[in-house]
Amino acid sequence: MACLGGGFIIILLNALLAVAATATTASGTCGFPAVFNFGDSNSDTGGLSAAFGQAPPPNGESFWGRPMGRYCDGRVVVDFIAHKLGLPYLHAYLDSVGSNFSHGANFATAGSTIRPQNTTLSQSGFSPISLDVQSWEFAQFVTRSQFAAKVNGVFNGLLPKEEYFSQALYTFDIGQNDLTAGYFSNMTTEEVKASIPDILNQFTAVIQSVYGQGGRYFWIHNTGPFGCLPYVLERVPLKAPDVDRHGCGTPFNGVAQLFNEKLKETVAQLRRDLPLAVFTYVDVYSVKYNLIAHARKHGFERPLVACCGHGGKYNYNTKYGCGSMKTTANGTAVLVGGSCEDPRKRIIWDGVHYTQAANKYVFEQIVGGKFSDSSVPLKLACQTKP
Ligand SMILES: *[C@@H]1O[C@H](CO)[C@@H](O)[C@H](O)[C@H]1NC(C)=O
Ligand SMILES: *[C@@H]1O[C@H](CO)[C@@H](O)[C@H](O)[C@H]1NC(C)=O
Ligand SMILES: *[C@@H]1O[C@H](CO)[C@@H](O)[C@H](O)[C@H]1NC(C)=O
Ligand SMILES: *[C@@H]1O[C@H](CO)[C@@H](O)[C@H](O)[C@H]1NC(C)=O
Repeated sequence: MACLGGGFIIILLNALLAVAATATTASGTCGFPAVFNFGDSNSDTGGLSAAFGQAPPPNGESFWGRPMGRYCDGRVVVDFIAHKLGLPYLHAYLDSVGSNFSHGANFATAGSTIRPQNTTLSQSGFSPISLDVQSWEFAQFVTRSQFAAKVNGVFNGLLPKEEYFSQALYTFDIGQNDLTAGYFSNMTTEEVKASIPDILNQFTAVIQSVYGQGGRYFWIHNTGPFGCLPYVLERVPLKAPDVDRHGCGTPFNGVAQLFNEKLKETVAQLRRDLPLAVFTYVDVYSVKYNLIAHARKHGFERPLVACCGHGGKYNYNTKYGCGSMKTTANGTAVLVGGSCEDPRKRIIWDGVHYTQAANKYVFEQIVGGKFSDSSVPLKLACQTKP
């Protein structure tokens, strides 16, 4: 490249940018044929369940009437995204029974972090399927699905077409667990803050890897106000000045906001480094925080109290989570982590995750682009301008 004139390079870049900006179909939308998702429990649709045991009932009760691999009473935000794009709900890549990946795959697992943790799932509750592992799975998925479809026709109807990998929407919702993992290993707020640059460097490496595999359209959620979640408030108790008027922990939410500020800068840098890609940064934090702060206005009640759980201020108990059973003196097992009467009126599902009703609210707020940078709606997320 060094021997080519600068003018030529600029012309070439402009031509390539024009291609990226005109990817919409005749109907004026991007026509994403597939969604590939990376993340944690906020978008897990069965990954952790496939490998480490099913999310127990009453998970799934409000939509499927049975557990469906989500830590939720129904659908998570990525389900609403797939549905809006006219695509089937995403199957987990790790789910080997009955899965159909023709329009996407989900690499997220509950408890996933961006950085690999140096502890096991049983020690700390964090998934070994960190974001780097998810990107290796994706790389295998790309090469092996092409191969399988060529050598065996059976797979044609179960795997994406080759061109889908460059046309698909790549969605990311991850980072929350990297921050809580810091707190749970007794780091101070300052120490957790100091870990953010390394976390985001590893995030960048994965985006570059997905780009290298052909990914072009990236839809990136920032991290939520985890300082409003019972599992954090219970495990890392705070004193009065560190709790805001909605009951949320300000140091935790401060860390989440700093992470988001740096994530936004990271996305801006990625735009400069990967000019053929289109990045949409979505401020899910503000939507979730507004929902909790103004719960009543949006038709919700008891914003910080888990719907499904067991006792205490937040109906949350680390020993008896949502769906957990207890053996009584006469040997019968009884459900102690039961669901609340009406999950449609609740925001927090199990002390860690949001209800389907809250997820639907979040989706409805973000789908039009109001909380996005740049402010393109979901269906136009192959464009840099609305
Ligand atoms: C895990 O250990 C490695 C090697 O000591 C270290 O570089 C890395 O930062 C650790 N990861 C985390 C999340 O602490
Ligand atoms: C997989 O799902 C797609 C989209 O819903 C469908 O068209 C296709 O027939 C399915 N494949 C099989 C083998 O059932
Ligand atoms: C954190 O500190 C608490 C209280 O001192 C201790 O019980 C716990 O084992 C520590 N956790 C870690 C991961 O070091
Ligand atoms: C066992 O005890 C529970 C209450 O602890 C009760 O609801 C249940 O009926 C008892 N079952 C039998 C078989 O006695």
